[in-house]
Amino acid sequence: MKVTLKIFRFNPEVDQKFHYETYVVEGEPTDRVLDLLEQVKGYQDGTLSFRRSCAHGVCGSDAIRINGRNHLACKTLVRDVGDKITVEPVLGLKVIKDLIVDMEPFFDNYKKVLPFFVNESPLPADGKERHQTPEQRERFDDTTKCILCACCTTSCPSFWASDDYLGPAALVTAHRFIFDSRDEAASERLHTLAETSGTARCHTAYNCTLACPREIQVTKAIGELKMAMVTGRLD
Ligand code: SF4
Ligand code: FES
Repeated sequence: MKVTLKIFRFNPEVDQKFHYETYVVEGEPTDRVLDLLEQVKGYQDGTLSFRRSCAHGVCGSDAIRINGRNHLACKTLVRDVGDKITVEPVLGLKVIKDLIVDMEPFFDNYKKVLPFFVNESPLPADGKERHQTPEQRERFDDTTKCILCACCTTSCPSFWASDDYLGPAALVTAHRFIFDSRDEAASERLHTLAETSGTARCHTAYNCTLACPREIQVTKAIGELKMAMVTGRLD
């Protein structure tokens, strides 16, 4: 089948403003949008720039807007988006070139929630492991699945309005550690989330949950953080 791709183009070295270019490629319904972008870059226009790495939905590097909604290019099939596809960079982050955006503000926000395990206490008597029951592990299982693709944060109207909002992805990471029974920095993280750039900026638009390619219940996780801040309970 013929597939028409209308692609956002912007090269800061030559363009005053962005424009769109249209390419027609041969594709199959089971091709991924990433395959079509590779085809354009490989055979029609080598100047097209986009991020990708694993091509299997693991690295999170190829988040883009496809027909107006955030997706991973490597997980989106032609049969699910049709034979006329508009491809654009995600919103809310500065475009560096074509489909590539500046991820620094996203990762700056991520770092603020201490995205690592904190525990300074001595190891248990056996000296080996910090034990956790299956129920305690289950408490934060959903938020361990995040691949930091930014589909959630860049689909959030509150983030578009103000990039000092930590954003859903940072809050998902905060959830992953705050509800880990072995971690000891929950109160420090909750203090960060209580600042004006934290959970108060979430107005439950729900875009984040719809956008997440890992099907993480992002809005629910943010709701659990809000509840923990009010009640002080982590169970
Ligand atoms: Fe991507 Fe989902 Fe993680 Fe957001 S929560 S960064 S959408 S994997
Ligand atoms: Fe790694 Fe798509 S290229 S998630």
